[in-house]
Amino acid sequence: MSKALDGIRILDFTHVQSGPTCTQLLAWLGADVIKVERPGVGDATRKQLVDVEGADSLYFTMLNHNKRSLTLNSKSETGKRVLERLVKKCDVLVENFAPGALDRMGFGWERIQELNPRMIMASIKGFGPGPYENCKVYENVAQCVGGAASTTGFRDDVPIVTGAQIGDSGTGLNLALGITAALLQREKTGRGQRVLAAMQDGVLNLCRVKLRDQQRLQHGPLKEYSQFGEGIEFGDATPRAANDSGGGQPGRILKCKGWESDPNAYTYFITQVAVWQKICGVIGKPEWKEHPDYATPPARLTRLNEIFGAIEAWTMTKTKFEVMDICNPLDIPVGPILSMKEIAEEPSLRETGTIVEVEHPQRGSYLTVGCPIKLSDTEVEVTRSPLLGEHTEEILAEVLEYSVDEIAEIKESGAV
Ligand code: COA
Repeated sequence: MSKALDGIRILDFTHVQSGPTCTQLLAWLGADVIKVERPGVGDATRKQLVDVEGADSLYFTMLNHNKRSLTLNSKSETGKRVLERLVKKCDVLVENFAPGALDRMGFGWERIQELNPRMIMASIKGFGPGPYENCKVYENVAQCVGGAASTTGFRDDVPIVTGAQIGDSGTGLNLALGITAALLQREKTGRGQRVLAAMQDGVLNLCRVKLRDQQRLQHGPLKEYSQFGEGIEFGDATPRAANDSGGGQPGRILKCKGWESDPNAYTYFITQVAVWQKICGVIGKPEWKEHPDYATPPARLTRLNEIFGAIEAWTMTKTKFEVMDICNPLDIPVGPILSMKEIAEEPSLRETGTIVEVEHPQRGSYLTVGCPIKLSDTEVEVTRSPLLGEHTEEILAEVLEYSVDEIAEIKESGAV
């Protein structure tokens, strides 16, 4: 079966998490991704959070499947010549170096265009143009400057960062979309272009409902926030809303049977307007169905603690899965809080390729996330990440078409 990005060759200058998630996605969709790494060193994540001595870390392997690894010192004279040839042979250059690193290497946008006018040059930076454009940025910094941390957590506690890597993996997704759009545009114009995805922008984009609420605050309190029902005044910025749902339908995380010993024995529960009567029936409060204090959404807003208290008294008598089994047929929106252990063991996620077991020569088999986007005409087969420099000779010979003697010379120079 052919793949969506067959024939597209990516010069992958990415490292750590954000950039590698982008190029891994492109590789899953069929692109030939050549990861360029410093000889003897490689991507720093290879040796971060090591769990199996002598093996590439899971941090690295889980971000670099389906790629080939070429070691190259792109600051040496020979290395620069090899890189020039690589630029001419590739469709896209992807990088997430600190601002200015590529210019310092001698491969800024002008030079890239001279070498290959069809080249798409795609970058992730912490910030877009502006006062902070030269800053180095990591995941949690992005969550803080993108509005996520100030709006996550409990109102009377410190800002919280989320475990979902929205700054890194989220921005990698944006970049992948930008690259595929630029490839499509190149079909018409014949020209490459620059693609920039800033982590601050990516996080803010995911926090749009909080920017929505910031503006709604000017017209009165945010009535769907629990804080309103509790009679606590709003300040001048969108507050942290704990587990309140982001939409107009009140929702909370509630305890389920076993919560005393199991940190994940909880369910999310949404009191959706359309199913209010069914909720009353399920939790044993039939009198609330028509009672004027409970029957309408505005009436309920000041009684959410009481209402969720009653719902929780019911959910605590059931496991989180029983809650799901009872509520789903009634269209009551609920969701069990699944632990990573439960997710890792969930057979249906293995069947869809969302979780994949991969064999690795240094570490045996391990689990990883598969491609989250399913295309009916592109079957994704997740293959292990490359060892450092595993494909150097192969790429020099096949892609860059160097002769045996030239390869020997390049190796001699220490550039690879
Ligand atoms: N050959 C020779 N030199 C190489 C090389 C190679 N193959 N690959 C990288 N280098 C050099 C770079 O040119 C750079 O040199 P310079 O500082 O002299 O210009 C150096 O290695 C280090 O690159 P840098 O990007 O500064 O790495 P860092 O470890 O100091 O910073 C980040 C890491 C992630 C903070 C930074 O890259 C960054 O802010 N990136 C953009 C935002 C981002 O993606 N953050 C999320 C990461 S998950």
